[in-house]
Amino acid sequence: MKVLLVGGGGREHALAWRIAGSPALTALWCAPGNPGIAAHAECVAIGAEDVPALVAFAQEKAVDLVVVGPEAPLTLGLADALRAAGIACFGPDAAAARLEGSKAFTKEVLDAAGAPTAGWARFDDPAAARDYVRAQGAPIVVKADGLAAGKGVVVAATVAEAEAAIADLMESRVHGEAGASVVIEECLIGEEASFFALCDGVRALPLAAAQDHKRVGDGDTGPNTGGMGAYSPPPAFTDALRDEVMARVVDPVLAEMARRGAPFRGVLFVGLMLTATGPRVIEFNVRFGDPECQALMMRLRGDLLPALAASAAGDLSGVSLEWSDEPSLVVVVAARGYPGAVEKGGRIGGLEAAAAVPGARVFHAGTARGPDGSVVAAGGRVLGIGAAAPDLRAAREAAYRAVDALDWPGGFCRRDIAHRAL
Ligand code: AMP
Ligand code: GLY
Repeated sequence: MKVLLVGGGGREHALAWRIAGSPALTALWCAPGNPGIAAHAECVAIGAEDVPALVAFAQEKAVDLVVVGPEAPLTLGLADALRAAGIACFGPDAAAARLEGSKAFTKEVLDAAGAPTAGWARFDDPAAARDYVRAQGAPIVVKADGLAAGKGVVVAATVAEAEAAIADLMESRVHGEAGASVVIEECLIGEEASFFALCDGVRALPLAAAQDHKRVGDGDTGPNTGGMGAYSPPPAFTDALRDEVMARVVDPVLAEMARRGAPFRGVLFVGLMLTATGPRVIEFNVRFGDPECQALMMRLRGDLLPALAASAAGDLSGVSLEWSDEPSLVVVVAARGYPGAVEKGGRIGGLEAAAAVPGARVFHAGTARGPDGSVVAAGGRVLGIGAAAPDLRAAREAAYRAVDALDWPGGFCRRDIAHRAL
């Protein structure tokens, strides 16, 4: 099978690693890739959002399957364009990618499917939104309806904070048109978990769960980020909980999407709050999480590629995947300043020493080759240092031993990944 992988972050490095190990693979390209991915795939200089160029490349190389890592090309219709050209694609059409692109759409689907989620209301008018938060009281959650790079959510502890969020999103338009509408939600309390299910439009195959660390600082402090580390499985996410989420969320949501003429194919990322009264959906994403994917891929046993191809082909029947009981963990090493402005170009040493730590694995995210061929920092989240071990504590020790083998003064990481489980 000839495969084109789209994306160039840590998630795509983990996918490239597992796809490259498949006996079914004959050729692997990655657009645009990164220096870590280049160990597994031929990197092609096409941007992940350049839909026409990606389709043309897939046609030219007679690619059998395109695997899409990030959400942006999916919301832009990459899967639609590929399928129209007769090329199989792992990832949903634009219509089904709305499960990530619009919070109000997601809430409508959840309610229609009878899936458990926070109570909510949608507003196009700031005055009506303010009246609502005053009536509801705090804590309360204000969300931009559209995509805002993970920054459009305010968990407001007071009514004043909620009103400020409404002003920022709807009146100052700090996230542009994404804030033209807002969703205001009941504040849920509990442990968060991310659960992943492979979908073929009709059926779903449960994968595994992970827990992310969204705040930049130790002890879950500071601003939100794309994710500073993850581990799998979260102890709170039992097999019984998995079965409940499949039965009450994933299966009915797939049925509702099919009923709406937008069947979901690809990986459904279910963001959950495990509340005292059961799991409730916080959000969906239409792709693997980053860095959750790195933690999942370290636990996967068996061949990922046929499962991705079966999802793309619309028939997951007969597919099964095994997961190691050994926990895995990934620590993100970011450039100083992240999630704000960062300095690029700093040389990263010690990559081989890090990879040599038993049980550890180095995932490249925002890296590039410098003029002399050395690996340099080229983004906010730069590396993911993963490890798997017989228990979580040992995995964490191995991962931090590998982090400490790096020689990169321009980087930093959280020191407490998996603190909730340990
Ligand atoms: P989202 O972009 O929807 O995932 O929201 C970002 C973060 O905001 C989540 O990971 C939660 O920590 C928090 N959050 C979102 N919705 C709620 C809610 N209804 N109750 C409590 N926290 C929430
Ligand atoms: N780590 C969270 C995400 O990928 O959205």
